[in-house]
Amino acid sequence: ADVRGKTAFITGGANGIGLGIARALVKAGANVVIADIRDSSLAEARAALAADSQVETVQLDVTDRAGFARAADAAEARFGKIHLLIGNAGIGVMGPILDTKYDDWDWAMGVNFGGVINGLVTILPRIKAHGEGGQVVTTSSQSALIPVPMTATYTAAKAAVLGLMETIRGELAPDNIGVSAFLPGPVQSNIAMSGELRPEAFKQDSGYIDREAQLEKRPVSPLWMTPEEVGERVLAGIRANDLYILTHPEFAPGMRTRFDAILASMPDEPINQPRAEAIGFLLGN
Ligand code: NAI
Repeated sequence: ADVRGKTAFITGGANGIGLGIARALVKAGANVVIADIRDSSLAEARAALAADSQVETVQLDVTDRAGFARAADAAEARFGKIHLLIGNAGIGVMGPILDTKYDDWDWAMGVNFGGVINGLVTILPRIKAHGEGGQVVTTSSQSALIPVPMTATYTAAKAAVLGLMETIRGELAPDNIGVSAFLPGPVQSNIAMSGELRPEAFKQDSGYIDREAQLEKRPVSPLWMTPEEVGERVLAGIRANDLYILTHPEFAPGMRTRFDAILASMPDEPINQPRAEAIGFLLGN
């Protein structure tokens, strides 16, 4: 999709990757609406972008459906139309599966998957209605392709996001709405500070809280990719309407190993031709 003169709504856009995407889009001539739960970060992001005529900020918890509609209204009040939905807000809470309790599941799935759903339900009809087309980009993770140990809630949500983007791409193409899944490897960001965002309501039945406090002390490696670099990669992916936007070629052999294992598990039998025709629409050829 074109971005110059278009408006992007970016969840979790006040820090890290979302801010990097905002920066690339502003440079390319788009308007950006940064929606984020962290009020203080919103003011800092606006100052960092230094392009007030192209930038709007709105406080939003992506799990708040009524709030999402109000934020979309605010975006339209400022810039008229929303063309690009960048579903990027996410939290990095994780731990061993046997320590994972309901509050951990509910918070992680609520933000990392539910927040994406709320964005689609709120904003997709608005993009469809103005008829100018657009793009949906959702931040999944490299971990959706090569699962990382001890990240059950995180990886489950990110794999769900990937399947969701793959599923809706064909449906939205006739409306000139492109769809991309962004699957970054390690990026310099504030994700280790996610624990400070855990709502009181999700603190009673959690097995992760001590682990979250430890994670906050984890240093950010200078070898991880910068938000600026990934922002430019996302911009290129939007322009090309790439279904998959990846960042780290280091993961390619592991991805091949995984998919070879899946293919090796196929029943080693001849194809049943009438059956193949009956299910042809499912085969993805
Ligand atoms: P970050 O913590 O720097 O940025 C995330 C932003 O989302 C923050 O500004 C935070 O305030 C906001 N946010 C969190 N919960 C929210 C909610 N309920 N409603 C609205 N905003 C909320 O972290 P980062 O790394 O930039 O994360 C962005 C996305 O990238 C996430 O979806 C994350 O899972 C994903 N990701 C990050 C990777 C990394 O290495 N940093 C790798 C792969 C994926």
